[in-house]
Amino acid sequence: MVIPQHVALILDGNGRWAKKRGLPRTMGHKEGCVTVEKTVEIAARMGIRYLTVYGFSTENWKRSSDEVGALMQLFRFYMVRLLKIASANNVRVKMIGDRTRFDRDIIEGINRLESETKDNMGLTFVIAVNYGGRDEIRRAAKRLAQDCAAGKVDADQIDEATFASYLDTADMPDPDLLIRTSGELRLSNYLLWQLAYTEIVVTDCLWPDFNKEELEKAIVQYNRRERRFGGVKG
Ligand code: IPE
Ligand code: IPE
Ligand code: MG
Repeated sequence: MVIPQHVALILDGNGRWAKKRGLPRTMGHKEGCVTVEKTVEIAARMGIRYLTVYGFSTENWKRSSDEVGALMQLFRFYMVRLLKIASANNVRVKMIGDRTRFDRDIIEGINRLESETKDNMGLTFVIAVNYGGRDEIRRAAKRLAQDCAAGKVDADQIDEATFASYLDTADMPDPDLLIRTSGELRLSNYLLWQLAYTEIVVTDCLWPDFNKEELEKAIVQYNRRERRFGGVKG
């Protein structure tokens, strides 16, 4: 079985998982965090090189202040745990998205996670927080325009590789496989540039129930696909 180099995940269904059990939505998020931890370890052991997980979108701020507040608290708590898990599993952690909107202690936590794990050579675990594909492209376009105005870049020379180097994912390969849990058939503003030729697998499994078997099932499906890029085999 070919293990995809880069797996992207839209973890969805925490709320539905909690509702099914008569629990508050935040309990679903808490359980979802445990599943993220487990998935990092499983992916690292499987030999996946990059795992990119959608944790909080630019649109998620529109949820109730109670829910957003609870998510921020969970984020604070799991950042500390993640540092231990990353160190124990040789995992390098990287965050994409616009971190400037978070509270100062969260920003410091993110910076610390990245700097303390930067030399780990195993899995690169990428967390998308306050991330939106459109916002990422907007921020990249702004910086590129500034570099053009400053005479650092010649507008006539801008190719796809130049543009990609301004994205948050600069230096990362595009995802080979996208998995979305909870059955929804949409991208929800995730990695809009990078998913251009990614194979997509959607499972009805709710995120807190996701496990090694579900990941393996998605990889089996991926192996049955014939990847094509413009009608040409990849
Ligand atoms: C995904 O679960 C977690 C986040 C977006 C933070 P949801 O909270 O979207 O769960 P559902 O979709 O309401 O079930
Ligand atoms: C996608 O889930 C965003 C994250 C997983 C962080 P949402 O639940 O926010 O997306 P929609 O509303 O179903 O598109
Ligand atoms: Mg959802």
